[in-house]
Amino acid sequence: MDVLEAIKNRRSHRAFTAEPVEPEKVEAILEAGRWAPSAANSQPWEFILITSEAARRRIYELSEEAKRTGHIAIRGFSYVRPLPGEVTGEDETLAAVQNYSFKFLTNVPVIIAVVGVPATPVQQASPGETADSYKYACGAVIQNMLLAAESMELGSLWFTFFDPQLAGQFLGIGPDRRLVALVLVGYPAGNPLPPGRLPLAAKVRRII
Ligand SMILES: Cc1cc2nc3c(=O)[nH]c(=O)nc-3n(C[C@H](O)[C@H](O)[C@H](O)COP(=O)(O)O)c2cc1C
Repeated sequence: MDVLEAIKNRRSHRAFTAEPVEPEKVEAILEAGRWAPSAANSQPWEFILITSEAARRRIYELSEEAKRTGHIAIRGFSYVRPLPGEVTGEDETLAAVQNYSFKFLTNVPVIIAVVGVPATPVQQASPGETADSYKYACGAVIQNMLLAAESMELGSLWFTFFDPQLAGQFLGIGPDRRLVALVLVGYPAGNPLPPGRLPLAAKVRRII
């Protein structure tokens, strides 16, 4: 599959069949992640491959728990439910999250946790490497994985609705590491419609 075709055809899947994913496809997805770019080739990531049914169920329970308590991550940022009366502008998002079921976490056959390794202050002094570099690199890893999945006709999802502390503890992630995202991979049940994009004219300023 052509890479531009994969970029456009890729969708976020939130329903999967029970069909297992072939181990060589899982390895190809991990391999695609490994080849992502990173500042000064620091490769500030680790992957945890989760296929056990019990572990997937536990991740589901923890995400539901985080939703109930309000400790969730929205758009990759940790978010804590505001105190009553506190205005944050994110209440609407939170309400939408409360109605969003994470049930697919229990039947998706493969979850890859992408764990970021923040640079030490000494490493941050090297050209191109900042405190945020690991986030950018992990973003590249995740997109590589999603596109690799798409190229093998697998469905995937970039999932961040977890409490980094709760989920991190369950996955054995140390205090010097960050759970950036869970990448879900399985055979898609259904064909989600593309949510659309703003036109280039709204997003591009040209200096010619
Ligand atoms: C940083 C980031 C976090 C995301 N977290 C979630 C998530 O937790 N749950 C979810 O269903 N989708 C999540 N998504 C997927 C987006 O909702 C999705 O990419 C967007 O709606 C566009 O749809 P598309 O991927 O089908 O083009 C996330 C995407 C990104 C880039």
